[in-house]
Amino acid sequence: MAAAHIALLVVVLAARHALLAAGSDAHPGYDATEDTCGVPAAEYGGGRILDITHAYRPDMPEFALGEVTGPLVRLRDSMADGSVCNLSELRMHCHMGTHVDAPGHINQAHFAAGLDVDKLDLEVLNGPTLLVDTPRNTNITAKAMESLNIPKGVRRVLFRTLNTDRKLMWKKGDLSYVGFTEDGAQWLVDNTDIKLVGIDYLSVAAYDHLISAHVVFFKIPNIILVEGLKLDDVQAGIYMLHCLPLRLVGSEGSPIRCILIK
Ligand SMILES: *[C@@H]1O[C@H](CO)[C@@H](O)[C@H](O)[C@H]1NC(C)=O
Ligand SMILES: *[C@@H]1O[C@H](CO)[C@@H](O)[C@H](O)[C@H]1NC(C)=O
Repeated sequence: MAAAHIALLVVVLAARHALLAAGSDAHPGYDATEDTCGVPAAEYGGGRILDITHAYRPDMPEFALGEVTGPLVRLRDSMADGSVCNLSELRMHCHMGTHVDAPGHINQAHFAAGLDVDKLDLEVLNGPTLLVDTPRNTNITAKAMESLNIPKGVRRVLFRTLNTDRKLMWKKGDLSYVGFTEDGAQWLVDNTDIKLVGIDYLSVAAYDHLISAHVVFFKIPNIILVEGLKLDDVQAGIYMLHCLPLRLVGSEGSPIRCILIK
C-alpha cells in the first residue's frame, strides 16, 4: 500500500508542477469567477488548494422539502435603511449543502449520550484521504465496495459517484441518487479501516436504504459521514483533507467547510 501511495503522490506532484509551470494565476482567491454548474472546482494557491464545499444557494436540493425556503442569508439591518451597520441572519437546517452528520442523527442512544457535532473528532476530519470513483452502474453495494480494492489502513475516503456526473447538487430533490446500500455500509465497516466517509450528494445512503445504511454506519459511533461534497473536476488520488464543522452544541448535523490540499 505504501508503494501505491507514493506512486500516486508522485503523479499528483507532477501534475501540480505542470500546473505551476503553466503559470497559474497568482491572484489569491477564486480562480473560477462563479461557483455554478459546469465551472471547475474553486482553487486557491495556484491550484494547490481545492475547495470541495458547495456554495449555499437558496435553490439547493434538500431532504426536508419545504422546510426552509427563500434566501439563506438575509440582510436584517441595512445601512441603506439607516442602520449603523449591515447585519445578516442565517436560516437553514443543519443538513443542508455540504454538511456532516453526528452519530445522534439516526441513533437515539448516541443523541442522548450527547454525541453532537461539537464532539466530532477533528483528527478524523483532517488528514490524508483517498478520492475514488465508484462504478457508475450501481449503488455502493458490498460488491461495489469490494471492487474498489481500498487498502487496509486507509482511514478517509471520498466516494465520487454518478451523482457528480448527473450534477445532482444542482437539481431539486432527485431521489434516484447513488449511495450506500445496507450491505455496502456493512462491508465497509467489516472489511476496511475507513473512519471518514465522504460522498457527493446529500446522503451517504441510497434512498431505499436511507435509514438502514445510516444505522450500520452509526452503530459504533466511530465513523464520520460528510455529505454533499463538491467533487467535480478533482482528480482521483491522494490528498490532505481538511474539514471543519461549526461547533453547534446539541446539534446532530452541521454545515462543514472541506478543502483538499495537493
Ligand atoms: C449595506 O447593505 C446595503 C444594501 O442594503 C448596501 O447598499 C451597502 O453597500 C452595504 N454597506 C456596506 C458597508 O457593506
Ligand atoms: C441507486 O438506488 C436508487 C434507490 O435507492 C435508485 O433509484 C437508483 O437507480 C440506483 N442507482 C443505480 C446506479 O443503480
